[in-house]
Amino acid sequence: MPLIRMDKFLSLSQGISRSEAKILLKNGNITVDGKRVLKGDFKFDEAAEVKNGNTVLTYKKHIYLLMNKPEGILSAATDKRVKTVIDIIPERFRRDGLFPVGRLDKNTTGLLIITDDGDFGHRVTSPKTETEKCYYAELDGEIKEEYIKAFAEGMTLVSGEVCKPAILRPAGKCSARVIVTEGKYHQIKRMFGVVGLGVNKLHRVSIGKLSLPESLAPGEVIEIGEREKALIFYRNDILL
Ligand code: URA
Repeated sequence: MPLIRMDKFLSLSQGISRSEAKILLKNGNITVDGKRVLKGDFKFDEAAEVKNGNTVLTYKKHIYLLMNKPEGILSAATDKRVKTVIDIIPERFRRDGLFPVGRLDKNTTGLLIITDDGDFGHRVTSPKTETEKCYYAELDGEIKEEYIKAFAEGMTLVSGEVCKPAILRPAGKCSARVIVTEGKYHQIKRMFGVVGLGVNKLHRVSIGKLSLPESLAPGEVIEIGEREKALIFYRNDILL
């Protein structure tokens, strides 16, 4: 069974800092399987029963957040100059090790998953998993039938990289929905670039069957649970 440090456990369980956890420990009411623990660096089995007096304490090993990424914010864990998506996470969700799952460009908006679970993040972004990322794009020109075909056949980017088949569906005169199952650098913009269209606005609408809730304003964050996590890996079957 994996071990966890007491100060980390208390910090995750109670939403307090590690130094606040040390103060809590000094009160002498914290026990692990009935034995009093006073030190923050004490390591114990995650399955052990931790109590504060008579109250059993539980903690979440990992957290899974869904953000409506606003424009102008970098999807990176840290940056010296520019605000990142991690910087704008509300205090109540903050913890060590949070990172955005995949990247959206600075000016792209919409659904972004943030977690501290590396395995989960890898599963979402791995090309093998082929999660379906759906984007809404506003373009500087009209979509022609031949572009839909080019997207569906798997286009070759200017760099020579070959894309997997993608869905392009016009949504208006100069707008479209695009579904891709991979995440190459600037992929959507580069795909439209091949057919000579510029992207004025890009917004991620969904991953798999997990959609961005319409009520979630730019910059807002909600915690998601097992059901929503599972939806990410559902296929809409239109690429088959
Ligand atoms: N493709 C892009 O070009 N930009 C994004 O932010 C995401 C996909």
